[in-house]
Amino acid sequence: MTDKPALDAAYALQSPEDNRRLYAEWAESYDQDFADNMGYALPIFVADAFVQSWGRAHLGQILDVGAGTGLVGKRLAYHSVHSVDGLDISAEMLAVAFAKGYYKKTIECNLLERLPIVSARYDGIISAGTFTHGHVGPAALDELLRIAKPGALFCLSINLEHFETAGFKQKLKEINNDIDNLSLQTVPIYMQGSIGKHANDLGVIVLFRKTLP
Ligand SMILES: C[S@@+](CC[C@H](N)C(=O)[O-])C[C@H]1O[C@@H](n2cnc3c(N)ncnc32)[C@H](O)[C@@H]1O
Repeated sequence: MTDKPALDAAYALQSPEDNRRLYAEWAESYDQDFADNMGYALPIFVADAFVQSWGRAHLGQILDVGAGTGLVGKRLAYHSVHSVDGLDISAEMLAVAFAKGYYKKTIECNLLERLPIVSARYDGIISAGTFTHGHVGPAALDELLRIAKPGALFCLSINLEHFETAGFKQKLKEINNDIDNLSLQTVPIYMQGSIGKHANDLGVIVLFRKTLP
């Protein structure tokens, strides 16, 4: 298991348009060249954390934010959680995800703009690997809160360095009145035994619920 230059290229992206371009090229090989070869485990940790708080009996609509090729959807399906939509800026990544059959529908849009989704639409918001260097920062949380129902469960992984440098702590303070039951858990991004300069990178799983009125 070694890392690929593609990860450094992804971390160095400057704009949503850069993301669109890179992931258009990466979509077909992402699962094998990146996820399998690097032992990318974050989607499993995130989906497992989500399900632990979600409760199997709870039916509701979930949005996977930055769904990519659908690795979170795959793990949710393993837990028999199926009502999942996938959102991503990359049509090519979403096409790979949708073909796997884990998503009810896909939504191609930019998390850094107003989302084409009505307010209070989703019962759960989940995300792995999207809040990271060169991708999406804390500004996206406002729109995600808007489209979440009161009481909705959020389970978002954030690259630890990005969490510390991009203003997430400040953002969580700003939205403090809009969220309840906040918890932070540090997890490895890659499986034990992965090699390469990113092998020991960490993520923070941020769990909270949107406040009830
Ligand atoms: C590292 S991949 C993670 C994909 C998947 N969640 C996983 O864990 O394998 C990051 C994803 O974020 C998406 N992305 C990057 N910037 C975005 C933006 N501004 N709006 C929506 N999606 C974005 C990319 O297209 C890509 O699919």
